[in-house]
Parts: sequence; C-alpha cells; structure tokens
Amino acid sequence: MEIMIADYSGFCFGVKRAMEIVENLIRKKEKAFTLGPLIHNPQVVERLKCSGIIAADLSDIKEGNVIIRTHGVEPDLTKQLESRPVNIIDCTCPHVKRVHNLAQDISNRGYLTVIIGDHNHPEVEGIKGYCNGDVKVIENAEEAKNFYTTKKVGIIVQTTQTKENIEEIMSVLRSKLDIEIFNNTRCKATQQRQEAAADLARNVDIMLVIGGKNSSNTKKLAQVCQNVGASVYHIETAEELKKSWFKYSDKVGITAGASTPDWIIKEVISKMDEFNKEMNNQETVKKEEEGELNYENTFTDLKEDT
Ligand code: F3S
Repeated sequence: MEIMIADYSGFCFGVKRAMEIVENLIRKKEKAFTLGPLIHNPQVVERLKCSGIIAADLSDIKEGNVIIRTHGVEPDLTKQLESRPVNIIDCTCPHVKRVHNLAQDISNRGYLTVIIGDHNHPEVEGIKGYCNGDVKVIENAEEAKNFYTTKKVGIIVQTTQTKENIEEIMSVLRSKLDIEIFNNTRCKATQQRQEAAADLARNVDIMLVIGGKNSSNTKKLAQVCQNVGASVYHIETAEELKKSWFKYSDKVGITAGASTPDWIIKEVISKMDEFNKEMNNQETVKKEEEGELNYENTFTDLKEDT
C-alpha cells in the first residue's frame, strides 16, 4: 500500500501565527482565556488547557489575558472586552481582518452585504458584526435561488469556502441580480490545501482527512475529496484508524485541515506505516504457505517418480 501526503497539509499561516503567540505566553508561564476554542481542534485545545490557556465564554472573563482567535470577533464583542480590566491579545488572521474591512466598506457605501459562508460559523458572525447595514448569509445554491432583493448588492466570501460552492452560488446570483461588487475573499491557504487535496484524491483509492470534526476547513477538505470521487474517512486522531478500511487499497492519500497540528499528522502516518508492515507480513506468510503447498506437491511427485 502506497501512502502519499498532500502538499500544504496542516497548520496554515494564520493558525501558525496564533499558536506562536500562545506558545510564547506559555513559555513566560502566563495564563490566558481564549474566546471560544483557540482553533477547531479538540486535541490542541485540551493540551493548551493543561498549560493554562483556557477556552471561555465572554461572561466568564473578568480580568487577565484574553486571546481573540484566528476567526476574529464582531466589534461589539471587542468593545465589551475593552470595558473590562483585561489584556486583549488579538490573533485574528490578517486575511479575516481584510474581510472585516471589505464588509465594513461595502455596507458603509449603502450596499446590502451578502456573505457566502456557513450560518453560525464564528468567522461569519464576526464579519456580520462589521456590516452597518443589511446583511445576508448564503450557504449554498439552494439558498441563493430563494434569495430576492431590489437593493444593490456587494458580496464577500468566508475564507474557508470551496471554489465549487462559491461558483454555484455566484452563478445563481448573477442570473438574477445586478452584482456591482464581488470580492472573492477565500484565502490562499484554503485554496492551496483544497487544490492539493483534490489532486491527490483523484489518484488514490482512499483519502484520509485529519482534523477536528468541528473544523469548517477540514470538513470542506473532506467534501472536496469526495467531490472528485475518492472514498473519504475524516478522522481526528490515529486511534480512529481501522486496518479493515485498507484491505483492498493500493494507494492511500492523507491531507489535514489548517487547524491540525504536525504531531497528530505524524501519529496517523506512523500508524499507517504499522498497518502497512502488518499487511505486508500477512501477505508474505500467505505466499509462503502457498509456496509450501506447491513444494509438498512437488515432493510427492518426486517420490512417485523414484
Ligand atoms: Fe487565515 Fe486562511 Fe488560515 S484565513 S487562519 S490563513 S485558513
């Protein structure tokens, strides 16, 4: 069984940056709250908790360091924090900040802001907070079909959206609205990961997608791989792997979400190597057994000849 790893698997620029800031705090033995989990990876969040970096709700945060995660938050929330004796450490990804600024600009110019994104995702909630006027979230082509407005529309995109979903939604919207502004703000890291995963998924029997089950970008990676016809298993850790999945596979691809740490990816690869060795051993034993049977037959034939 050949095991191949997709390019760009694992932490993206924004997550790396946030993790470095947090690790720096840990080195200085400082404690901090994060507004919600720092990243959508339960294993990382658990490790951080042991080092004093604790996910909390706004109501629980009275003082101390407060980390704003890569997804960013709505400005009202930042204001509420600023009214408390806390030290705000803003880890909002610069790509998300750019979307905030564009959203604010579109709505300040009197447009209805359409966000192509997932309802209730923290990044989308944050972006909505920067829109002073009307705002509408559209998650899929079906919702786009049911959307009507006479207002002028400006569109932006949640950074982790797939190319296919954006294109489907835009095709519906373009067919019935006069769209003056369209900013495709899907980030480069998402684009690179999704393209590399799809390229690999086209050439393997099975794709393993590693990352939090609550991670939007990981779920979308799995979706992208499924769309090109691969059988996909979305796992969070190596413990979830089952040897039986690979019984009939010659080629297995691995990719990992932008919030998946290297150590989890390494554990999965090492477990897959173990499976490979066990399966190769079983194959060798099977061949040897078949060889012995042939040998016995040959021996019998020889005896009959003499
Ligand atoms: Fe930033 Fe894109 Fe990662 S928005 S946090 S670089 S997925």
